[in-house]
Amino acid sequence: MQEYFPIHVRNSVERDWGSEAIIISLRFASIEALCTALNLDPSLAEKLRKMGFETPEALATATVEELMYVGLDVDTSRRILREIRDSLPFLTLSGEDLLMEGLKVQRITTGSKALDDALGGGVETRNITEFFGESGTGKSQICHQLCVNVGLPEEMGGILGGALYIDADNTFRPERICQMAKRFKLDPMEVLKGIHCVKVVNSDHQIFVVDKCEEILKRHKVRLIIVDSLTTHFRGDYPGKELLPKRQLSLTKHISRLKELSKAFDLAVVVTNHVISSPEEPFGEALKAAGGFAISYAVRTRLYLRKAISPNLRIARLVSSPYLSEREVIFRIAEGGIEDIREGEV
Ligand SMILES: Nc1ncnc2c1ncn2[C@@H]1O[C@H](COP(=O)(O)OP(=O)(O)OP(=O)(O)O)[C@@H](O)[C@H]1O
Ligand SMILES: [Mg+2]
Repeated sequence: MQEYFPIHVRNSVERDWGSEAIIISLRFASIEALCTALNLDPSLAEKLRKMGFETPEALATATVEELMYVGLDVDTSRRILREIRDSLPFLTLSGEDLLMEGLKVQRITTGSKALDDALGGGVETRNITEFFGESGTGKSQICHQLCVNVGLPEEMGGILGGALYIDADNTFRPERICQMAKRFKLDPMEVLKGIHCVKVVNSDHQIFVVDKCEEILKRHKVRLIIVDSLTTHFRGDYPGKELLPKRQLSLTKHISRLKELSKAFDLAVVVTNHVISSPEEPFGEALKAAGGFAISYAVRTRLYLRKAISPNLRIARLVSSPYLSEREVIFRIAEGGIEDIREGEV
C-alpha cells in the first residue's frame, strides 16, 4: 500500500527552487549517514542511488514497495521511511506566498495571439502544457514554433532561453525551424544552435533522458522542454490491459519528474499526446487524450486540437485549466509557422 507523505522534497538542494520550501533532513546528512544510523548494510546507499534516490529528502518520497525492490523486507522499509520522515520539518506556504510564486511565471508566445489568449497569454513556465489531437492537427508544428519562440526577447514574446526537444515520434525537422526563424528575420543557424534534440527509442530511454537531463538544462540555459509525444513509447512498450497498471505507474513517475524540472529550472514543459476513441461516452467527445488519469492529474493546461474545414486552419479548445474557462480559438499553420487567421477569413 502506498504511504502518504505530504511534504515536497527534492533530490538536490543546489538549484533555485523559487519560493518552494527547500527541506533538508535535520538528522541525516546523506543516505550513507542514514544507513549507518539505522545499522543497515552500507551497500544499500548505492542501490538506492541507482534507483534515483540521491538524498535522504528524496528518499522520503519513496514508497514501501520501492524500498522492497532493492531487497529490503517490509518492516525495514517502513522503519526507514518513518525515520527519514520524522527527521524532516513540516512546512507550508501561505496563500500570499503562492500568489507571489504565480507572479514569477513567464510565458512563451505560440505565434498566434488567439492561441496565446486561450492559454492566458502563452505557454507558461513552471508547469506542463499538453496539446493533444489526431494526426496532422499541428501538435509538432506548435512544438517547433515554441522552440523558435523561447529564444526570442521578452518584447517579442520569448524568454531568451534554449530548448530541449525529446523526440519520441521522430518528427523533429530542422528545416522547419529554419522556415519559422526566417519569419522573425532571425539567423536560422543561430536559432538551431539553441535547440537540443534527443531522439528516444523506447519508454526506458525517454525516462532516462528526463532523469539525467539536468546538466543539459544548465549548460544550454534551457527554458523549454518538449516531449513529442509523451505517450507513444509507453503505449508501445506496455501493450494490453495486463500491463496497464505498470504503464500508468511508470508514466506517473515520468510526468512527476517533468513537473519537478519545470519548477526547479523555471522552464515550460510542453507535451503532445495522441487521442483514443471513447465509446463509453456516446453523448460526449468521441475522442479523448491517451494516458488516462496519469496525465490528466499532472498536466495543468490541456488543449485539444482538431482540423477546421479550411486547409491549414486548426481549432484549439482549452479543455482543462485551473483558472481559465473553456474556450475555442482558430489559428493557421503557415510556411512561417503558427499564426493568426486574417479578419473575416472564417
Ligand atoms: N511548411 C508548411 N506550411 C504549411 N503547413 C505545414 C507546413 N509543414 C507542415 N504543415 C502542416 O502541418 C501538418 C502536420 O502537423 P503536425 O506534424 O504538427 O501534426 P501532428 O499533430 O504532430 O501529427 P502526429 O500526431 O501525426 O504527429 C501538415 O498536415 C500540414 O498541414
Ligand atoms: Mg507530431
